[in-house]
Amino acid sequence: MFTPEGPTVRELAVQALSSVERGYDLLAPKFDLTPFRTPDSVLDAVAGAAAPLGPFRAGLDVCCGTGAGVAVLRRLCTERATGVDFSAGMLAAARANFGSGPGAGSAPGPAVEWVRADAHALPFRGAFDLAVSFGAFGHFLPAERPALFAQVRAALRPGGRFVFPVPAPPRVGSGPYWAMWGFDGVMRLRNLLRRPPFVMYYRTFRLPDVRAELAGAGFSTELLPLPGLGVRGDGAPRCALLVATRG
Ligand SMILES: C[S@@+](CC[C@H](N)C(=O)[O-])C[C@H]1O[C@@H](n2cnc3c(N)ncnc32)[C@H](O)[C@@H]1O
Repeated sequence: MFTPEGPTVRELAVQALSSVERGYDLLAPKFDLTPFRTPDSVLDAVAGAAAPLGPFRAGLDVCCGTGAGVAVLRRLCTERATGVDFSAGMLAAARANFGSGPGAGSAPGPAVEWVRADAHALPFRGAFDLAVSFGAFGHFLPAERPALFAQVRAALRPGGRFVFPVPAPPRVGSGPYWAMWGFDGVMRLRNLLRRPPFVMYYRTFRLPDVRAELAGAGFSTELLPLPGLGVRGDGAPRCALLVATRG
């Protein structure tokens, strides 16, 4: 959760009243101290489940932020790990975390590069055999997702994989269920009252819709359980890895 070294309530409020891009520029120096940075347990589980799908030469982290997914790509890819994000501040923090160029970072590994671009218009064609994304889909309205998935598909080589974790939806009426309702409600009110909008909704990413949209963009999909991230009372995993394969 939040720590004393992390952003203050005021800083978070200023971020949320900005555009998404500007908000992340402001949050970037303290982003890794917030719960919004994807936790290592999730990164480890994804890396473990995706490894048997390889080998991979080049990987792309879509909406990389400070580089959480690039850490996964450095473990899975032999040649190149590329992070793309539209926030210059987040990319600066990512560079500070990982460096850039061949063998960047503490351990030997693939070349690391950072590209500033909007995911709505990715500047890549057939360049990667793996794409990942963590914690960013809430920034895209459902109507935007088909185009986003088409962008990722175009960035992949034929047979390339697009993988990302999908948490099981919270039980209706549970604390997390109401927390998500509350968060989305506040954001909708904020976006009614203020421009530019800060799009971030939790309840719009429904798995059946997402699988249909991926299929429409030219992917076949499967779900791999991530049991290391826990199981629910009914025995179902709390989180799964969606594997979308470019046809
Ligand atoms: C919650 S952060 C997640 C960062 C990182 N993937 C992680 O899991 O820690 C969301 C990131 O998505 C980026 N983002 C949001 N919309 C974007 C867009 N349209 N194009 C590129 N980046 C975008 C933001 O700048 C931010 O860095």
